[in-house]
Amino acid sequence: MAKIALPPLPYAYNALEPWIDEQTMHLHHDKHHQTYLDNLLKAITGTEFENVTPEKLLGDLGTVPEKIRGVVRNHGGGFVNHALFWEVMGPKAGGAPAGDLAKAIDGAFGSFDSFKEKFSAAAAGQFGSGWAWLVVKGDGSLAVYNLPNQDSPLSSGDTPVLGLDVWEHAYYLKYQNRRAEYIGNWWNVVNWAKVAELYKAAKK
Ligand SMILES: [Fe+2]
Repeated sequence: MAKIALPPLPYAYNALEPWIDEQTMHLHHDKHHQTYLDNLLKAITGTEFENVTPEKLLGDLGTVPEKIRGVVRNHGGGFVNHALFWEVMGPKAGGAPAGDLAKAIDGAFGSFDSFKEKFSAAAAGQFGSGWAWLVVKGDGSLAVYNLPNQDSPLSSGDTPVLGLDVWEHAYYLKYQNRRAEYIGNWWNVVNWAKVAELYKAAKK
């Protein structure tokens, strides 16, 4: 059996209140995230891929046999994307990045405000389910884009350092159809220290 476990939330379920409610965090982490992991494990257990990390599988989907490629892409992607999502949020967070990350954002997008605008537009403009991403590209530059479903930036050779889940399961209980309000409030829980750490690691 592949040894992959669901990472616990790195804070309490109610820690992101009032921006993200406790009930949503329970369902999102304990049910949705768990299901992605369960389905990934079902697909890879007993195959030569059971000890390959999901990140590696997503980074080289072409090597995954066609009969399990869709599950790896969707559920492996769901597992990896959500693991990142919990990490890049936190209580007493928000504000703006500092240091090298702040400089890189200013350099790539003009200013932090322009970056926020571009990222928010990517999140709002994702038709149906998907994510907005801030990624580090192979040449070390930053980029923002959206991807449908649970597609991972890793599958395009990019390293995600910030992701925003805009599947309805991420916000519907509290915000119903008001995705823009969810996106606007979500900036209050972004853990920029963690994003800076991921940026530093990706630049290496
Ligand atoms: Fe989600």
